[in-house]
Amino acid sequence: MSLSRRGFISSVSAGRSGPASVALIAARGREAAVGESWPYDYQAAPAARTGNQIRISSNENPLGPGKTAVDALLGNFGQYGRYPFNSRPLDVEFEAAIGKKFNVKRENVVLGAGSGEILRNAVRAFTSGSKALVTGTCSFENCPRTAEQIGSPVKLVALDSKLRLDLDGMAAAAKGAGLVFFCNPNNPTATVHGASAVAEFVKKIRQTSPDTAILIDEAYFDYVTDPSYATAVPLAMENPNVFVTRTFSKAYGMAGLRAGYAIGQPETIKKLARFKMPYNVSVPTQTAAVASLGDQPHIDAERKRNTEVRDFTVKAFESWGYKPTASQGNFIFVDLRRPAKAFRDACAANGVMIGRDFPPYEKTHSRISIGTMEEMQKAVDVFKRVLTTATTTAERGR
Ligand SMILES: Cc1ncc(COP(=O)(O)O)c(C=O)c1O
Repeated sequence: MSLSRRGFISSVSAGRSGPASVALIAARGREAAVGESWPYDYQAAPAARTGNQIRISSNENPLGPGKTAVDALLGNFGQYGRYPFNSRPLDVEFEAAIGKKFNVKRENVVLGAGSGEILRNAVRAFTSGSKALVTGTCSFENCPRTAEQIGSPVKLVALDSKLRLDLDGMAAAAKGAGLVFFCNPNNPTATVHGASAVAEFVKKIRQTSPDTAILIDEAYFDYVTDPSYATAVPLAMENPNVFVTRTFSKAYGMAGLRAGYAIGQPETIKKLARFKMPYNVSVPTQTAAVASLGDQPHIDAERKRNTEVRDFTVKAFESWGYKPTASQGNFIFVDLRRPAKAFRDACAANGVMIGRDFPPYEKTHSRISIGTMEEMQKAVDVFKRVLTTATTTAERGR
């Protein structure tokens, strides 16, 4: 029997491990928990196990992998008993497929079990007790968390008034630092810097602090619609110690399959590869990833879908008087003039799970990932109800 994409997901869900298996494949809803505490307390987030909620808390693709990827995955079971260096496709074929997409060689590519692995490895490779990490506050937490674990100092640079990363401030802080983490689009604020600002930033740091490595995280690249934006891969190819990271977890819909990569000059890539676990990407994952690299129309359609739903969600908040930042990801960051926890808990009580706290904005801003249109229509009804109720209560208290 041939299995359709939806059929595959639901047949796994109907199997012996129930909804947890769906979560394993699509991995919706755990990003918020990973690294927060260990062992992770599932009791503290029972909703993560039930699968009935609208889960827009972890910047995932609500539809999962595309048909091309799923068909390849289902058709290649015969290879899954092999190591990734002994299988079809091979890990080197996966690297070559990425190289082909960017017109670079295999030596310019290092694989990760998600780009999160590469972010961690970058902190290990380029920072130390005397070589700081520079990052924005707030930005994606993986790098500062790793720096803290290994005892590297962290220099936090505040965002500008539009909640964009302050590139001048970060470039100034980079002098003598080991690594700059530049998240573009930035998670959680969803803002981007255009190609010329990125080039200027790299040039400045290369002049003032040439030994400092620069990690440009493009996890949300495929969701950007701002025409001034472009990939920094050419900059990474031209400059030593500059590299770009990408992931299959977002537009490619494979958060549960775990694949990411970095691109840079061979010497830079070698420094990252020293910390990589051998065979870190599984054969099923590389099967799906290689197939999906050949299906750009699917990614274009996913961007279009996300843009429509993002616009719908942004307009809803704006119509109620709340202004999200200029959103370029599959999530929005919105000033609700109330603590994120209060809003999150109220939404959760109504079956809608939204993002975690993002200090120093946790007293005012919430991050909401973009689900399907159907999910967001339901979520928007809940948001409206919660915001109205909360306002009424606050007004009563005055
Ligand atoms: C900016 C950014 N970079 C990297 C990652 C890591 O993603 P993954 O390890 O799934 O590739 C995430 C995940 O949410 C992210 O938001």
